[in-house]
Amino acid sequence: GITRQYKFDVKLQNVTRLCHTKSMVTINGQFPGPRIVAREGDQLLIKVVNHVQNNITIHWHGIRQLQTGWADGPAYVTQCPIQNGHSYVYNFTIVGQRGTLFWHAHISWLRSTVYGPLIILPKRGVPYPFAQPYKEVPIVFGEWWNADPEAVINQAMKTGGGPNVSDAYTINGLPGPLYNCSARDAFKLKVKPGKTYLLRLINAALNDELFFSIANHTLTVVEADAVYVKPFEIDTLLITPGQTTNVLLKTKPHFPNATFFMTARPYVTGLGTFDNSTVAGILQYEFSSKTLSTPSIKKLPLYKPILPPLNDTSFATNFANKLRSLASDQFPANVPQKVDKHFFFTIGLGTSPCQQNQTCQGPNGTRFAASVNNVSFALPTTALLQAHFFGQSNGVYHPDFPSSPIFPFNYTGNPPNNTMVSNGTKLVVLPFNTSVELIMQDTSILGAESHPLHLHGFNFFVVGQGFGNFDPNKDPANFNLVDPVERNTVGVPSGGWVAIRFQADNPGVWFMHCHLEIHTSWGLKMGWLVLDGKLPNQKLLPPPADLPKC
Ligand code: C2O
Repeated sequence: GITRQYKFDVKLQNVTRLCHTKSMVTINGQFPGPRIVAREGDQLLIKVVNHVQNNITIHWHGIRQLQTGWADGPAYVTQCPIQNGHSYVYNFTIVGQRGTLFWHAHISWLRSTVYGPLIILPKRGVPYPFAQPYKEVPIVFGEWWNADPEAVINQAMKTGGGPNVSDAYTINGLPGPLYNCSARDAFKLKVKPGKTYLLRLINAALNDELFFSIANHTLTVVEADAVYVKPFEIDTLLITPGQTTNVLLKTKPHFPNATFFMTARPYVTGLGTFDNSTVAGILQYEFSSKTLSTPSIKKLPLYKPILPPLNDTSFATNFANKLRSLASDQFPANVPQKVDKHFFFTIGLGTSPCQQNQTCQGPNGTRFAASVNNVSFALPTTALLQAHFFGQSNGVYHPDFPSSPIFPFNYTGNPPNNTMVSNGTKLVVLPFNTSVELIMQDTSILGAESHPLHLHGFNFFVVGQGFGNFDPNKDPANFNLVDPVERNTVGVPSGGWVAIRFQADNPGVWFMHCHLEIHTSWGLKMGWLVLDGKLPNQKLLPPPADLPKC
């Protein structure tokens, strides 16, 4: 591999969408941010210089960061934030990974404007395990607020209620023609007939899982979260925040005398208000002969896709079940066959009692709180990884995160309004190379809701999923230990559970959280501390000299 250098200047930029202009935090003045392209085996040196008042960190979502946890990025987990006037060089090597990932800010809600594609090509000369595409196109979904999203979340945390929802979804930063005052702000994909395009789909939205479809075209799924899958065809797919999906689009053999919308809108299972609007982009065939001029192309009929209903959980389940890893000789699925440690986590939303000096606009005058095993995670004021590395964990974190729920109950059948949520900064401590099985159970305390759980530092295998309460005596018999999908973000099904396995072969402190940002804000997050192994290449490297201080 080679070394590639990038410079990220964090600065304010005026951006206009939906006839609202706002000054917002960007990288190099771009929205979405710059695209990073590298190859498997390359080293990346990305210098982030902060010119704004907000503290910032950047996370390289899905990059394993073997031995280089210092470059992972979540604020107060692996590093202190980069303050105004300071800089930090993220230094890491891409080992054994290729595919579509993304990078985003990892502090407060700054990732609403600070995100971009991170594309890892195979090593030079190594082909894809599918037909070489004619062109590759990143398609990044995001959300747009007319207001400042930092003000939106600050307000919500103050009141303990739900935040204002976004004003639009975007494709590559553009809301598209279905919104008011947005006719010209549409992503256009210009294609030639009879070609294959690789679309690199990235869901960088804050709070919504999205259905996506292109009218009158079939898509072939070939990769999920930067791991190849057994190809399958679909009209519509589901992508949660934190997930990436590569699809092949085969264009029609001849100029079709039509243009086509590609649209995305949310899959929603929970309570409360949400943005149920639709973003549209345009698939436009280029006509090469002189007989049809551009103005007449504009008059072509327009086809729109039909997306599933907003709460279509059976679609979500069927789609998840189709994803299988390639499990080939060249790309084997190294599913841990034996388990050293079993964990059972309840994942869910709840409420916590209002304290005296708080205002509380949650249900019945409470505050919204989200938790894992009834612990609502509180970030410390210094970085967990530093506290661990320098042996200063006292008063920063406790190594006693519960491996199963403190109060077991019926998680899906009309559960009690269990508000036994405690705040805490607790980690699970794992010896190096522990093989882990983790069941994540949706608790349905405030209604069944799907949660896209993201694990830093690892890929995991999704060995099972189901509805209702997980049954430890029956369900494991049906686990797929042969070709389960391997990924970094999985939807815990609404009113159900998911089982994952991973090998804890990466020393460091690794964040795990719901990638719906509002749930993270409410505490749906925790951390794993993986200890050093014995060999030199099993140890966390020392921190770089420019690591920011708190
Ligand atoms: Cu993409 Cu911890 O996040």
